[in-house]
Amino acid sequence: MSLIDKLDHNRLPAHIAIIMDGNGRWAKTRGLDRSAGHREGVEAIRRVVEAASAASIQYLTLYAFSTENWHRPMDEVSGLMDLMVYALTRETARLKKNGVRIVVIGDLDRLPDNVRKILQDCIQETAGGKNLTLVIALSYSSKWELTQAVKKISDDIESGILHKEDICEETFSNYLTTRNLPDPDLLIRTGGEQRISNFLLWQSAYAEFYFTETFWPDFNDEELYKAILDYQKRERRFGKISEQIEPEQ
Ligand code: FPP
Repeated sequence: MSLIDKLDHNRLPAHIAIIMDGNGRWAKTRGLDRSAGHREGVEAIRRVVEAASAASIQYLTLYAFSTENWHRPMDEVSGLMDLMVYALTRETARLKKNGVRIVVIGDLDRLPDNVRKILQDCIQETAGGKNLTLVIALSYSSKWELTQAVKKISDDIESGILHKEDICEETFSNYLTTRNLPDPDLLIRTGGEQRISNFLLWQSAYAEFYFTETFWPDFNDEELYKAILDYQKRERRFGKISEQIEPEQ
């Protein structure tokens, strides 16, 4: 029996965000190049996107490449860029057929032209997807995102579009790359480390965290459902006390 049958469909996280970690170590334990780990990582992405769709998850955000990842050796960076082009070219038709809409967040100006182009095509092709929104965080970091939000806010104040008195949490959220997305309910990190690595710092204010030792290339549908079941055992109080929480139907 699959763990999907054990999920409480009335208490699903609307948005799951994942820090996909452990590709390099997965490869190393097998005596392979790091690039082999990244290639297997793409297969894990395919499995997890299908598993999330099957469980009616509405938003899935994957941390594919951080601002800090630009500092990796040049051949690893270019290998990852090529892999993204390959994976997106191969998967766009299937994503579209399965009602998956692609959204990309991050500093896209830093990406090579061919990656930007394939992303634009994929975003356009899948724009009508109604089942799952797959958000790819690429050349993304929260500190970059928060800094560019502050710059845009200053520009808008200077040009009179925005007034300082009108700035509230909601206004601020609207200057982030995630402006049209709900905050993540569940944040998963694979690969054994327990840190957030500059990912969705503002948006994860009340996310539930789930850490697993499993390396990303080994992550699969059952691992995803295990994380959701763990999430469903938790009481989300959002700063209130237990007695104030409405029992969910
Ligand atoms: C982390 O493992 C993984 C990455 C930095 C890259 C993840 C990207 C992909 C799997 C390709 C994404 C493709 C698309 C189309 C979204 P690591 O290299 O940090 O592993 P380590 O900690 O074991 O060294």
